[in-house]
Parts: sequence; structure tokens; C-alpha cells
Amino acid sequence: MREPQPVRDPSLPPRVTIYEVGPRDGLQNEQAVVPLDVKVEFIARLVAAGLPIVEATSFVHPKWVPQLADAAELIDLVDHEGPTPMPVLVPNERGLERALEKGVKHIAIFGSATETFAQRNLNRSLDEQFTMFEPVVRRARAAGMDVRAYVSMCFGDPWEGNVAVEQVVDVGRRLFDLGASQLSLGDTIGVGTPGHVTALLAAFNDAGLPNERLAVHFHDTYGQALSNAYAALQAGITTFDASAGGLGGCPYAESATGNLATEDLVWMLQGLGVETGVDLPQLVATSVWMAAQLGRPSPSRVVAALSGRESGR
Ligand code: HMG
Ligand code: MG
Repeated sequence: MREPQPVRDPSLPPRVTIYEVGPRDGLQNEQAVVPLDVKVEFIARLVAAGLPIVEATSFVHPKWVPQLADAAELIDLVDHEGPTPMPVLVPNERGLERALEKGVKHIAIFGSATETFAQRNLNRSLDEQFTMFEPVVRRARAAGMDVRAYVSMCFGDPWEGNVAVEQVVDVGRRLFDLGASQLSLGDTIGVGTPGHVTALLAAFNDAGLPNERLAVHFHDTYGQALSNAYAALQAGITTFDASAGGLGGCPYAESATGNLATEDLVWMLQGLGVETGVDLPQLVATSVWMAAQLGRPSPSRVVAALSGRESGR
């Protein structure tokens, strides 16, 4: 299989962590519910391809996200206590109780930088979301769980338009200060551009959040996800969320499309001589297999090129 010619840039981090969100962010937005055995095999294949962390599912209300209503069954069938962490999304104490029952070790809360998306995604106001998350994080930490916090709509909101950097930093800081180990900055609708990424990351650093505590989560709606990831890499970020094959989107965010494809990110990082530990051919094979399960081709350019789809092979 073809590989990029590595040209190392010594100013970049030598190694980064890819936080794979395909089984959660990827599958939550599918029209059809993917069968449980396919989800289980997808996760096992991602682990086998070297992804160091694989977000498995969500303990949200099953009526809100029917695609992931099988979360409890799924957790029983994957190796979530093994060496590869498999975080699950948890919005509230009910979700936490479901996760605790299953012995889950890693959870992620998910807040919104805007009022409208807090209402639409969580049925809470911007302020009420903190009241909902506070006992979740406190109890999770007391139970020895690791907690990640997402903040959505960091670069723009489909209902409110531009979102001020100060507002994102304020919400992100409050979410992180509840007791999270990492804050993932979400471009939920993919409108961000590289200069905006640089500015937002600098603002978080100025607010006392170092790069080691930050992750970036890009969606590719406007084709900017990889450029944005490069801007974040140049700023010194070392955790990147991505979704195998570029699956994904949020059912409660108008115009949200696929995440940054893990394969596109790995190709770029290999070219830059940045280590990820991911086996690209094995990952591409996984996304080709998954595309066959979903009945449509992966939107990832690297999957298309490496699987021979573009040359018609
Ligand atoms: P609500 O309707 O306000 O819930 O939903 P409630 O607290 O009023 O409870 C109502 C009923 O739901 C109760 O049952 C609860 O027990 C039950 P009843 O007493 O009436 O029989 N319930 C639950 N059942 C199972 N699991 C639960 C749960 N919670 C309550 N966890 C809620 C509030 C937060 C639950 C709802 O709004 C929800 O589930 N939202 C999730 C939406 C979602 O998953 N969105 C996608 C993920 S976010 C994303 O994709 C963005 C991200 O990728 C980053 C980026 O791209 O920016 C992370
Ligand atoms: Mg997302």
C-alpha cells in the first residue's frame, strides 16, 4: 500500500494520540441502526489497527439517540476493561448509574458553548448544564473513573452564528473545572478555519489550560478539518479526535456532517513524521468493511485512494 514520504518538522510534537470516535460520533448519526454484532466487530478492528483509545457508545436517553440504544448490551460485548480505554458519553446521573453498573472506567460529559445547542442537545439551559454535570463528575471521580469533557459549538453555531472566543473559553473552563482530565474542543458543524483554531487554543492557554489538557474535535462539513488539525498540531496539541472513514455528525446539530477521517489524519501525520501507532492499511480495511455494512462508500479521500476506489481498481 502506498505511503507518504516522511519529512519531519522538528517543531512539531514527535508523537500524538488519536482518540477514535467512530463507534460513537460516527454511528450516532446513521439513518439506520447498525446491528450490535457489527458495532462490536468495528470496535475490535479499530483496537487491532492500533487506535489507542476508542469511544464506544453513549449512555444517553435511548429515545434521543436510538442508534445507540444498545449501549448496555454493547459494553458487555467489548473489552472495555482491557488495555485500550473505551470511554462512553454520559450526560446526567441516570447515565452515570448505567455506566457504573457496567464497570465503565472512562466517561465523557458533553457541554455546549451556546444556549440554543444546550437546549436542543441536552434539554437544559447553558447554566443548567453545569448543574446536571456537577454530580456526574463528582460521583464519577469518587468511583475512580476518568472524565473527559467536550465543549460543542466552539467555532460557530447554526442557530446563533458566530460564537465569541471568550464565551467558549468561559464554558470550557467551567466544564474542565468540574474535575475533568481533558477538554475536547468541538467544531460540531465544521465551520472553523485554521486561524480561528490558533486563536482559540491560545485563549485557552492564556486561561490556564495547557495543551496537554486540550484535545481538538473537528467535523469536515466545509473541508477544513485537516487544515484545522494541522493548525492545532503547530500549536502543540497532542490529542486529536477522529472517526474511521470520516463517519459522523450530531443528530441535534443542523448541518453537522462527518468527523475528520482518521485515515486522512494518519496519512498527514505519517508524512510529517509524527508517530500515532496506527496501522494505516489495517484501518483502511476496517473502513472499507464498515462502508460495505452501511451500504455506501466512505467519504474519506485516503480510504478512497488506498482502497483503489479512485483509480477504479
Ligand atoms: P430529558 O428528557 O430532559 O431527561 O433529557 P429527564 O432528566 O427529564 O428524564 C426524563 C426520562 O428520561 C426519565 O425517565 C429518565 O429516567 C430518563 P422516566 O422517569 O420519565 O421514566 N433518562 C434516561 N434514560 C436513560 N439514560 C439516560 C437518561 N436520562 C434520563 N442517560 C438528556 C435529557 C440529557 C437525557 C437528553 O437530552 C439526552 O439524552 N441527550 C443526548 C443527546 C446526544 O446524545 N447528542 C449527541 C452527542 S453530543 C455530540 O455529538 C457532540 C460531540 O461529538 C462534540 C462535537 O462534535 O461538538 C460530543
Ligand atoms: Mg462530534
